Amino acid sequence: MKIIICKDYEHMSRFSADIVIEQIRQKPDSVIGLATGSTPLGMYKELIRQYKKGRVDFSKVVTFNLDEYLGLSPDHPQSYHYFMFNNFFNHINIKIENVNLPGGITAYNLDGVCREYDEKIEKAGGIDLQILGIGHNGHIGFNEPGKKLYTQTHIVSLSHETIKANSRFFDHIDEVPRKAITMGVGGIMRAKKILLLASGKDKAAIIKKAFSGIITTEIPASLLQLHKDILVILDKEAAKEL
Ligand code: GLP
Repeated sequence: MKIIICKDYEHMSRFSADIVIEQIRQKPDSVIGLATGSTPLGMYKELIRQYKKGRVDFSKVVTFNLDEYLGLSPDHPQSYHYFMFNNFFNHINIKIENVNLPGGITAYNLDGVCREYDEKIEKAGGIDLQILGIGHNGHIGFNEPGKKLYTQTHIVSLSHETIKANSRFFDHIDEVPRKAITMGVGGIMRAKKILLLASGKDKAAIIKKAFSGIITTEIPASLLQLHKDILVILDKEAAKEL
């Protein structure tokens, strides 16, 4: 595990975008696992900027998103589907057929949908580069702390902490979906390379706990310490308790 401390959010965003660009230069048909949340927004902005300058070509890139709320339509402004198109896909030359997001409102056979998602990732050759944020409780994707973690894509009941944290994007906490679909920890760990981004002082405590040398399902991100090729990219504030 390598930890890189950047001077601020902008630097962290540029640094991580450069790694994504390098990955795509090396392998134009890279399979990239993407995350939502406020943390990777700066990286997406930088990738769009570099794309507009002609420095990166997404035409062969395949993406798989980590997670999605259940019960929100893809055009709901808080759905991760909407987030990804609005903040990234609509601004680059990615092919729509190469974009994959789990779930969707029409998903009634949820177990089947979960299995299909994992199969699709496998068929695509597995994830070359996985982008991750981290929840204040140590969740990755929507793999919430608990006595056990799931390896495969699955349906999860969101913890009260996550519902509260994510309510900042909704008009009222009652509007936050209680369930979500997420890639499992196994799917994340199978990625060939992982970039975990965290910024701001409110992430400092969980970063310390997650990368302290102890592994526990109560802090799902701590499992990442076992990955062979993980880069943790922090700004100074998020690194301040290390
Ligand atoms: C959400 C997402 C995660 C994300 C996390 C942190 O609940 N499911 O994938 O990493 O919260 O979000 P933020 O970057 O806004 O702090």
